[in-house]
Amino acid sequence: MKTVCSILASILVTSISFAAKSPEEAKVYADVIQPLLNAKCVSCHGETKQKGKLRLDTAEHTFKGGKGAKADIIVKGNIDDSELTYRVSLPKDDDDVMPPFEGPDTFDPFTKAQQAILNWWVKDGASLDKTVAQAPANVQEEMKKILTTPPKAKVGPKAVMKIIKLPEVPAASAGALATAAKTGVLHLPIHKGTNAISVNALPVQKTFGDKDLAALGSVAAQTLWLNLGKTQISDVGVGNLAKFKELRRLHLDNTKITDKSLATVAKFSHLEYLNLYGTEVTDEGLAHLKGLKNLKKLYLWKTKATPAKAEELKKSIPGIYINIGWENEPAAKVVAVPAGEKPAAKPAPEPINKKCPLTGRDINLNQTVTYKGQVIALCCANCKAKFEKEPEKYISKVPEFKLAK
Ligand code: HEC
Repeated sequence: MKTVCSILASILVTSISFAAKSPEEAKVYADVIQPLLNAKCVSCHGETKQKGKLRLDTAEHTFKGGKGAKADIIVKGNIDDSELTYRVSLPKDDDDVMPPFEGPDTFDPFTKAQQAILNWWVKDGASLDKTVAQAPANVQEEMKKILTTPPKAKVGPKAVMKIIKLPEVPAASAGALATAAKTGVLHLPIHKGTNAISVNALPVQKTFGDKDLAALGSVAAQTLWLNLGKTQISDVGVGNLAKFKELRRLHLDNTKITDKSLATVAKFSHLEYLNLYGTEVTDEGLAHLKGLKNLKKLYLWKTKATPAKAEELKKSIPGIYINIGWENEPAAKVVAVPAGEKPAAKPAPEPINKKCPLTGRDINLNQTVTYKGQVIALCCANCKAKFEKEPEKYISKVPEFKLAK
């Protein structure tokens, strides 16, 4: 009896001491960061799945990086250049955010406090030997929480399957797929064991036009995701899309379509994602979309639609997210405004500088401050706030700034 008790006791003691190592012995990477990566990232970046050719399940793999970032995944001492800190700092609607936003039930990003841990560790040199006790108090607090309650993955694979919720559609015949493939588009099954497909005209953007759209009709019943972004299609072709009743995601960005096409789009009652970025769509077109109750994301940047109408649409479609411009730019790294173009709307006075004085990145024309009568642009809202707080500290980094005599 005694032995059983002492075995039990020692199991208890070991499991408790395992759950909460002391800050002196707990390592920042192994005992804090790795558990976070295990919970939030390894389902896609581990031994079985290696999205972007990246594994995050051991330190060795993490430092190797993936196919794009390679060793820049962690640039010791530099959080601005480290892909790891960058990806987890993005807002949830950014295409590059990690983990990718796939729905509110599964989305489990690094919290601000967890980002602060990662940022501190990278800035400090990303040493695997650092202990929790060596971290400054503000990040150490959060680390201790992770030591006592290791993070768990938010949902298992079953729940993920449920969220994808694919409709059952009849399989496309080999002939129908061949007809579609002749146009040069890529077509792929959306998931193992489903007949639903995604169709992407990316490889043939420059040549794919209204005639090709007619040929795609052969797989209309199976196509859930259709990417026609940057192709040569117009209202004429979109008018023939009516058969694509199962569409969930549709990219029409940077095409010649106008409000007319949206009358057809209005028929896609299952549509969840619609990208109209860079088209001639106006408020009138938006009025067509009111009935799309399943629509969750709508991209209207660089269209003629106004924020007021977008707000109105939000009332008709509860829970929709509408992106009409810069308001959601990432806090850290901002996509540069394409050369020679300015964000729509705001005819703000021209800033005097081209680079953010805090980060050296390209400026964002919507993040400006007027200082001593001169407009200074920053790269993001974060930097703007910092600049506003202490302009004297940063103004010397704006070479264009000259005091009026
Ligand atoms: C649902 C799957 C999924 C999850 C979860 C996920 N990722 Fe990814 N990740 C991807 C895919 C797909 C790519 C490739 C496309 C891309 O680069 O955006 C990728 C690419 C990356 C890359 C770029 C790799 C390279 O070198 O090109 C980084 C860095 C990354 N992920 C970090 C993370 C981190 C950190 C987490 C956890 C916080 C995470 N990912 C969670 C799917 C996922």
